[in-house]
Amino acid sequence: MLDNVHTRAQTINTMDRSVKLGKAVLKSPFVLAPIAGYTDSPFRRICVGHGCGMTMTELVSVEGIVRTNPKTIDLLKFTDEERPIAIQIFGHKPETMGSAAAIVETLEPDIIDINLGCPARKVCGSGNGAALLKDPSLVFRITESVVKSTRLPVTAKIRTGWDENSKNYMDVVQALQDGGVSFITVHGRTRAQQYSGMADWNIIAEIKSKASVPVIGNGDIDSYKKAGEMMKFSGCDAVMIGRGSLGNPWIFSGVKPGTGEILEQVRVHLKMMIDEYGERGIHMMRKHIVKYIHGIPNAAKVRGKIVLACTYEDILDILGTLEADDDQGHGN
Ligand SMILES: Cc1cc2nc3c(=O)[nH]c(=O)nc-3n(C[C@H](O)[C@H](O)[C@H](O)COP(=O)(O)O)c2cc1C
Repeated sequence: MLDNVHTRAQTINTMDRSVKLGKAVLKSPFVLAPIAGYTDSPFRRICVGHGCGMTMTELVSVEGIVRTNPKTIDLLKFTDEERPIAIQIFGHKPETMGSAAAIVETLEPDIIDINLGCPARKVCGSGNGAALLKDPSLVFRITESVVKSTRLPVTAKIRTGWDENSKNYMDVVQALQDGGVSFITVHGRTRAQQYSGMADWNIIAEIKSKASVPVIGNGDIDSYKKAGEMMKFSGCDAVMIGRGSLGNPWIFSGVKPGTGEILEQVRVHLKMMIDEYGERGIHMMRKHIVKYIHGIPNAAKVRGKIVLACTYEDILDILGTLEADDDQGHGN
C-alpha cells in the first residue's frame, strides 16, 4: 500500500493534469485504447470515472457506415460522459473513408481516428488496418479525404510497420502529417508481431522527437507506474492503455482496490451492461468478470461457474461466495 502511495506521489505531477492535443483537451494524459468487444460505452464510462482522459470506439467499418448497417451503427453509440471521444474508422478507399467521416461527424464525436494498425487477417486481407502501412501514398490520400470531409480533428493509430523488414513508420507519419492529422497514436509493434514480444518504446520516442504533431504512446502499459515511465522515456504527450485496463479500470488512478471494491465495481458494471444490452449484457459481461476477479483469492474456483452463469442472480450469488471467502480472511 505504501509502495502504491509512493508511486502515485512520484507520478502525480505528470499524470494528474489536463493535456491539449491539437484542438482536443484531454482530462488527463491517459487514453483508453480501443479493444474490440470490450471497450464499449459502459466500459468507457467506467474508465472515465477512474481518471481516463479520453476514450475511443473500437474500429468501425466505413463500408458498414455508408450502408447504414444496423450492427455497425450500434458500435458508434456513445454518451457525453465518454468525452472527449474519438470514433475510429477503418477502410481503404479514400472516397468511402471521406463519406463515412461526413456521416460520423453528424453524431458529434470529438475526434475521428483512422485505424492503421489492426493486424487481423480478415481486416488486412482486404487492404485495411495495418495493411495500409505498406502504402504511405494511399495513407496520404485517405487522410486528406477524411480531413476534407469533416471539421472535426482527424487522428490516426499506427503500428511501427508491416514486419521487421519494413519499419517505415517515419514515411507513414509524414504521410499522415501531410494529410492533416491532429495527432498520432503509436503502438510500438509491427503487424507481424501481432501482440507478441515487447512494444518498442524507442520507436515511440523517435517518432515523438521527429513528428510535428503530438504523439500518444501505446503498448505494454500494465500499471499506473508504467504509464509514467512511458511518458518519461519517450517524451510522448499522452499514453494509451489497452489490455492493462481490462478488469482494472483503477489503472487510470493508481489506486489499488480491495476485494470488496472490485466486486462492487463488477456489480455496477453488470447493471450498466443490462441497462445497455438487456439480457445479452449478462453474457457479454462474463469475459469482463473473469478479468476483474483474476487475482482475488479463490477466483480460480468460480471461473468455471462465471462463464456458464445465465442470470443476474447467478452472477450475484457467485460474487457473494468470493466476498464470503474474503471475509473469512483469505485475502484483502
Ligand atoms: C482483443 C483486442 C482488440 C483490439 N481492437 C482494436 C481496435 O478495434 N482498434 C485499434 O486501433 N486497436 C485495437 N487493439 C489494439 C489496442 O488498442 C492496443 O494498441 C494494443 O492492445 C497494445 O496496447 P496494450 O499493450 O496497452 O494492450 C485491440 C487489441 C486487442 C488485444
